[in-house]
Amino acid sequence: MRSNSRLGFLSKRLCERLVLILILACGVPSAAAEYGDVVLNRLSEANDMRPVIFPHWFHRVRFRCKVCHHELGFEMRAGANEIDMGKIIDGQYCGMCHNGQVAWSVDECHLCHSGKPGLQTGIRGSNQTGGPGRW
Ligand code: HEC
Ligand code: HEC
Ligand code: HEC
Repeated sequence: MRSNSRLGFLSKRLCERLVLILILACGVPSAAAEYGDVVLNRLSEANDMRPVIFPHWFHRVRFRCKVCHHELGFEMRAGANEIDMGKIIDGQYCGMCHNGQVAWSVDECHLCHSGKPGLQTGIRGSNQTGGPGRW
């Protein structure tokens, strides 16, 4: 009886560990861009940083399109925005949210500069959507 409940306790601990490991593993940004991600590499690699991966769908489920494409002024075309690090630190573009308030701050370089070297600016794994941003 006693050893049984001990075993039960152990396996619960083990389960919790596994869940924790899974959560941690999922939290690590992937180096390969996923389907629908936008790669931004106008300046990064030329300046010894990995390309930026912008997970578009991750953001789309959290904010309405108009927040970024109207209120914040992002053009709806991959590579069309002249984003650079100075502007972000100044609170423009990604820096409007990645300021330690709406989302984690610019200090987390590797979370944005997570692309595999050599990735080109553009959308991964999908055609550019045929929306108004095409033209
Ligand atoms: C919220 C996302 C984000 C974070 C965090 C971030 N960057 Fe960037 N960074 C960008 C984007 C987007 C660009 C423009 C990408 C491109 O087109 O190459 C960029 C460009 C750059 C460039 C290219 C030169 C320039 O002036 O733009 C450098 C160097 C750079 N970042 C360094 C850093 C360093 C160092 C950190 C951490 C202190 C950092 N970045 C954190 C998004 C980010
Ligand atoms: C958090 C900000 C954000 C939100 C929310 C957002 N987008 Fe985007 N979107 C971007 C950025 C950044 C790019 C890339 C721009 C670049 O490469 O210069 C982009 C690119 C695009 C593009 C061009 C790439 C492509 O897929 O053809 C389209 C179209 C687009 N967005 C549509 C939408 C729609 C529709 C929604 C709402 C369902 C939406 N976006 C929500 C930031 C956002
Ligand atoms: C409208 C606000 C907003 C804008 C603009 C924005 N982000 Fe984010 N971003 C968020 C929020 C909120 C999260 C989730 C933060 C968290 O989980 O703590 C996030 C998370 C992320 C993540 C992590 C995704 C993951 O899988 O956990 C990356 C990478 C990222 N943003 C990159 C960018 C880049 C690059 C830009 C500019 C091109 C940008 N973001 C612009 C709000 C924004």
